[in-house]
Amino acid sequence: MTKVLFVTSEFYPLIKTGGLADVSSSLPAALSHLGLDIIPVLPGYPAVMEGLQAPKQLKVFTPAETPYATTLYEACVAPSGQKIWVVDTPELFNRDGGPYVDSNKQDWPDNCLRFGHFCDIVSRLSLGQCGLSWVPDLVHGNDWQGGLVFAHLHHYANLHPQKKRPATLITIHNIAYQGLFSYAEFEALSLPHEWWASGGVEFHGHFSFLKAGINYADVITTVSPHYAQEILSPEQGYGFEGLLNHRKEHLIGILNGADYTQWNPKTDAYIPHQYGPTSLQQKNLNKVALQQSTGLASNKKLPLIGIVSRLAYQKGMDFLRTMIERFIEDDVQWVVLGSGDPHIEQELLALSRLHPEKCQVRIGYDENMAHHIEAAADIFFMPSRYEPCGLNQIYSLKYGTIPVATKTGGLVDTIINADDANLAAGTATGFLADNDHIDVLEMRLRQALLAFQNKSLWLKLRRTAMAQDFSWNNSARQYLSAYNQAQTLNQKKALEFSS
Ligand code: ADP
Ligand code: GLC
Repeated sequence: MTKVLFVTSEFYPLIKTGGLADVSSSLPAALSHLGLDIIPVLPGYPAVMEGLQAPKQLKVFTPAETPYATTLYEACVAPSGQKIWVVDTPELFNRDGGPYVDSNKQDWPDNCLRFGHFCDIVSRLSLGQCGLSWVPDLVHGNDWQGGLVFAHLHHYANLHPQKKRPATLITIHNIAYQGLFSYAEFEALSLPHEWWASGGVEFHGHFSFLKAGINYADVITTVSPHYAQEILSPEQGYGFEGLLNHRKEHLIGILNGADYTQWNPKTDAYIPHQYGPTSLQQKNLNKVALQQSTGLASNKKLPLIGIVSRLAYQKGMDFLRTMIERFIEDDVQWVVLGSGDPHIEQELLALSRLHPEKCQVRIGYDENMAHHIEAAADIFFMPSRYEPCGLNQIYSLKYGTIPVATKTGGLVDTIINADDANLAAGTATGFLADNDHIDVLEMRLRQALLAFQNKSLWLKLRRTAMAQDFSWNNSARQYLSAYNQAQTLNQKKALEFSS
C-alpha cells in the first residue's frame, strides 16, 4: 500500500481560510478509498489543538533537533475519521489570529521561521529520521507553506546518493501566493548557502518557498486544467511562467472535486429545507428563510444573488459595491458573506446600511450561512479576476444556484456557458463573462436575470446544473496516476545520482 504524507496548512473542519482546507480533507479521504495509506500533516494552531479528539503523542523533538519545543501528535478527525499528524510548536503556532495573519490582518512577521520550521519537521518525518515506523513513499505538498520540504528532500538525495528519498509532488492552489521573504530571513533559517541560487530558492532577489517546490518537486500539479495552461503565460504566471514552461512536461492540471457528503442540498444539515432537483419549491423556502433572518424584504419572487467569498482583488470584490449600486433600482436582492480587505468590508457594510431591504452583508466566517446562501440564492456571483479552481461555483451547481462568473481558470472547466449552442443543446449550467471588466460582467448578470424570468428555461438550467458530478472519484484517480509518474521520476533520478 503506497504511503503518502500530505503536507498542508489548512484542514476542514479544524482550520479553514479557503478552499485549500476543503481539498485537504476531501482529497485524502478519496485517495484512502482508492487504497492509499495517506496522512495529512499540519501545524498545531490553537483551533487545531482544541479540535483534536484524544490526540496521541508520537514524538517529542529534543533541543538538538530543533530550537523550538515541538511535539508530534496523531489523531482521528470527525466526520470522516481521517488520521492526521499535527506539528505542535507552541512558540510559533499557539497564538490568537489566523494561520498566516494576526488579528489586524497583517502577515505574522515570523512567517518565514514558522513555516520554515514546519517544513524542517515534515522533512525529517519524510526521511524516516524520527524513529517512527511509518515513513512515506511519497510526499504531497500544497502551496508555498510546504515548499521548503522539496528543497530539503532534493538536497538530501544529492548528499546521500545511496539512500532513498520519497517521491514528491506539489500542488499549486494559487500561484500569486509565493512565500516571499528576504535574504536575511533565509540566513536566519541556517539553510545551506548553495540553496541561494536561481536554480534553488532565490527568486528575483527574494527567498521563495514556492520556488523551492516548483524547482524540486518531481511532479507539479495545479487545481484545474485551464489554470495549468494560464500559469504558463506572463499575465497569469506571476513571474514563474519561465520556470513552469521549463517544467511543463511535469505540470498537470487536475480539477478539484467536491465533497458531496458536506455539500448536497438533499442532506445538508445547515439548511432549513432540504431539496433535490424534483423538489425545487423547497429551495424557495430557503430563500424566504434567509430573507427573514437577514432583514431583506420578504418576497420569494425576487431573484436573490448570493456571494460567499474572500473579499479580495483576486475575487473581483473591489468593484462589488459599484456593481450592486448599478442594480439598486432593479427588482433584485443581494446577500454577501465574506471577510478580507478592510476597505471592501467597510464599503459593503455602508451600502447594506443604505439599502437593507435589497442588500445584506455579513462580515466574518460563517459555515452555516455559507451553506444557507448556496441553498437560498437563485444566482451565485463569482466575478474573479483569476480563479485557480474555485469551489463555490461547484457547490452552487449542486444546489441549483446558477453561477455567473468570469471566463477564467477552473470556472471555465466547471461551468458550461449559456451561449446559443449550449442553450439549444440543453447543456448550459451557468453564465460566463468573457473577461473581468465590470461592464461585461454587468451585461452577463443582466442576461442571467432575464433568463430567470423564463420559468422553463431557468428550471432546465437548474436541473442540468444539479446533475453535474464533480465528486472526487475521477480527480482522485488522476492524482494516483500523477503519484505514479512522480515515483517513476524519483527512481530515475536516484539511478542518475548513484551512477
Ligand atoms: P478560495 O480558496 O480562493 O477562497 P474557493 O472557492 O476554492 O476559493 O473556496 C472557498 C471556500 O471557503 C468555500 O468552501 C467557501 O464556502 C468558503 N468560504 C469563503 N468565505 C467564507 C466565509 N466568509 N464564511 C464561510 N465560508 C467561506
Ligand atoms: C485557492 C484558489 C481557489 C481554489 C482553492 C482550492 O485558494 O484561489 O481557486 O479552489 O485554492 O484548490
